Amino acid sequence: MSSGDLSRSENPIGVFDSGLGGLTVVRELQSAMPNEEIVYLGDTARVPYGTKSLQTIRRFSLEDAAFLLEFSPKMIVVACNSASAAAVTVLRERLPVEVVDVISPSAARAVAHAPGTIGVIGTEATVNSGAYQRAIHELDPSREVVAVACPLLVPIVEEGRDQTDPIVTHVLCDYLRDLQRIRPTVLILGCTHYPLLSGAIGKLMGPATPLINSGWAAAQEAVARLERGGLRSRRQERGTLRCFTTDNPQRFAAFAQRFGTARIDQVEYLGTDMLETRRLPEGSAP
Ligand code: DGL
Repeated sequence: MSSGDLSRSENPIGVFDSGLGGLTVVRELQSAMPNEEIVYLGDTARVPYGTKSLQTIRRFSLEDAAFLLEFSPKMIVVACNSASAAAVTVLRERLPVEVVDVISPSAARAVAHAPGTIGVIGTEATVNSGAYQRAIHELDPSREVVAVACPLLVPIVEEGRDQTDPIVTHVLCDYLRDLQRIRPTVLILGCTHYPLLSGAIGKLMGPATPLINSGWAAAQEAVARLERGGLRSRRQERGTLRCFTTDNPQRFAAFAQRFGTARIDQVEYLGTDMLETRRLPEGSAP
């Protein structure tokens, strides 16, 4: 770790997502850096982002990030793949802090893993945006990428269905058919919800196709960037997780366990009307 910026190292990491799914990314952040404070915004009133236009997702993402800026975060993690696909460039242009997305870190891991075709599964917005394809081709222009949109998987996970449920198996078999035939060298789980189905997906793809959890890859990237900037917290005790939700906080707290986050210290309501008043100043980046 570099000697760093002591004044900012104890500031929180801001994380936003379209809803609860980003808690799978928080879980990875907490496991890699248990002592960091995290402020999380889950836009549960406007979820899903993955079926919306890139323009709408971009607007929501700018509002989400503008809200998080009020906590003076030392970094913002865009936990949502659909938001990363739609908005990371504009967020990097407009935010005065470092932005970690979930797409480029997993693309880099996939390219480094082994030569061969890379599979990606994600929401309609993520897959149709071509963001994974672009991130992979920036690193290796000749790499074949097969990306498949799996829109039913988000509601299936939100419903809390078990991975062994025949409905889950049936839907996965349908979505993964082409990928099973192609046998990619690696498969990127390009959506916050898919790590909760990784057992079933891994079983269908077989051991020759390891899975990359995009949230895990983003957490490793966040650690590396904070260390490079000397911004890792020196705190000894565990960091707190403060959550904001744009819909029912009780439901958020109850469902959060499904997404594997062990501990949430506080859930607060924030109306979307409040979010809509947040605007990032033009060109506020350093
Ligand atoms: N968080 C979204 C993603 O990772 C999934 C849920 C949604 O569509 O909003 O793309």
